Amino acid sequence: MGGLFITFEGPDGAGKTTQLRILAERFAQEGYDVLCTREPGGTRISDKIREMLLDSANREMHARAEALLYAAARAQHVAEVIDPALQSGKVVLCDRFVDSSLAYQGWGRGLPLEMLYVINNFATDKLRPDLTLLLDISPQEGTARVDKRCGGRRDRIEDEQDGFRQRVRQGFRELAGLHASRMVPIDAGRPVEAVHAEIWAHVEQIIVKKEGSA
Ligand SMILES: Nc1ncnc2c1ncn2[C@@H]1O[C@H](COP(=O)(O)OP(=O)(O)O)[C@@H](O)[C@H]1O
Ligand SMILES: [Mg+2]
Repeated sequence: MGGLFITFEGPDGAGKTTQLRILAERFAQEGYDVLCTREPGGTRISDKIREMLLDSANREMHARAEALLYAAARAQHVAEVIDPALQSGKVVLCDRFVDSSLAYQGWGRGLPLEMLYVINNFATDKLRPDLTLLLDISPQEGTARVDKRCGGRRDRIEDEQDGFRQRVRQGFRELAGLHASRMVPIDAGRPVEAVHAEIWAHVEQIIVKKEGSA
């Protein structure tokens, strides 16, 4: 089949990490070679940038600096991890990717989308996911899950206010409309198993499509 690149998007608490793990197990059971990774991070250098991005002490970070740091972390991640894995035919599951930068830095912070596309195309060398699963949930429900998960401890991005979170959700939804051929919105407010079943149905379609074109 060649490599398969699947990304998970959506706000904190949507269930990305939960669903990514379940999907990875499913792929492994079906005999695929799977690599799981996440953004920001995924390499030694990218993890250092991640620390800078999420550190609540970095209050003065400018939105443009933030956008470039995400892109820098991503460039290293693509070159060092994602691209080589895809070249060797693996299934790569990635927790957040370019769409998060567009939703958070574009819709959330108000940076111009065209610039975000430019720096991210440069960072990724125009690598696109085969499938992007947008786990859609209300900011309130996502926040409630995060609070339950880590007892109220939040990082710099999780600390953002409700208006920001609403804009980010809107951004993700608009992106799903703009990139409908690869990005599917999924109602993440349902039980874990129901969400996984829908995800697997989309994944099977993509596998059939990829095998057909191989
Ligand atoms: N469908 C679901 N229903 C209820 N709770 C969920 C569901 N999916 C995940 N959770 C829980 O919500 C919290 C956040 O999930 P997580 O997978 O870490 O989200 P994300 O990676 O998107 O931030 C975790 O405690 C997780 O166990
Ligand atoms: Mg997570």
